[in-house]
Amino acid sequence: MTNIVLEENGFDGVRAAIARSAMVVTDSNVAALYGTLCDGAFVIDAGEKSKSPETLFSVIDGMYERGLCRNDTVVALGGGVTGDITGLAASLYMRGIRWISVPTTLVAMVDSGLGGKTAVDRRGVKNLVGTFHAPTDMVVSLEFIKTLPDREYIGGCGELIKTCLLTRNSYRLLRERFDALCARDASCLTEPVRACIAIKNTVVTDDFRESSVRKILNVGHTVGHALESVNGYKAGHGEYVLMGMMTECAMFKDMIDDDFYSAIIGMCRRFASPPKTSVKPVCELASKDKKNVDGQITVMLPVAAGDVLEVRVDRAEFSARYERAVAELKNER
Ligand code: GLY
Repeated sequence: MTNIVLEENGFDGVRAAIARSAMVVTDSNVAALYGTLCDGAFVIDAGEKSKSPETLFSVIDGMYERGLCRNDTVVALGGGVTGDITGLAASLYMRGIRWISVPTTLVAMVDSGLGGKTAVDRRGVKNLVGTFHAPTDMVVSLEFIKTLPDREYIGGCGELIKTCLLTRNSYRLLRERFDALCARDASCLTEPVRACIAIKNTVVTDDFRESSVRKILNVGHTVGHALESVNGYKAGHGEYVLMGMMTECAMFKDMIDDDFYSAIIGMCRRFASPPKTSVKPVCELASKDKKNVDGQITVMLPVAAGDVLEVRVDRAEFSARYERAVAELKNER
């Protein structure tokens, strides 16, 4: 569905993508660091606040003012926010034009840059308004990782760990490379990133609109998205995924293989702490999650390497399990 290029060094593939596009959308951080790639680009403010209808329509206005036609292509050069906004603008402008995803963050490389989920936030709910509109190409240059701030890198590790739980081979690879990953050893990153992209590509090719298997990519995301919204996006998405993953696993510890559980909690704790957010707002937002069915809150639970269970509970059980899990995680330190 999406043509994928991964380059370990340099920006040849990125430059080629830009050369065949009519417009590049990027954010203020990327523009400051990579001026030559961003020459003439449409620049949005970095950060989740840009995932708004106002920024969306400013990008669409930019497309109109530059005279883009239906057969033009736009490049999203940035992290998850840039990709989500640009993909949504591309899906709406003239009822849909092509876009190329060029992720510059680890989170976007291993997750959001591929799969065509586009969105803006609304009424305090993350990704409330969006479409499915796959990029024609995704060009990943690992070179961008060199300039990632530590917290952005940590968030990327959150999504990378999540994806590597989804198959036995990627889980084995994750365990082998975990210390190198923590040490930010670039030479050990290519294979895990490649594995995550391959897993995500298989999943979204099988179930583009998330009616079945794609839900497994939402491990850690029910609590993660709720924490993200309640806390006003103070930390990055991947950091909330780490907190969400450890909390959801602790909430349903009784359903998870013991060694697997300890490994997940141990890995998450290397990068993040348990959430401090009280149960009420988390439950409130989790009850609005897009995966929910018949008013029941859905959690995608990794129960063993390569095995994810869809768990549904009512609000009372969700709240009780959340409170117990957060207290236990705090005491286990
Ligand atoms: N980030 C989860 C998905 O793309 O389905």
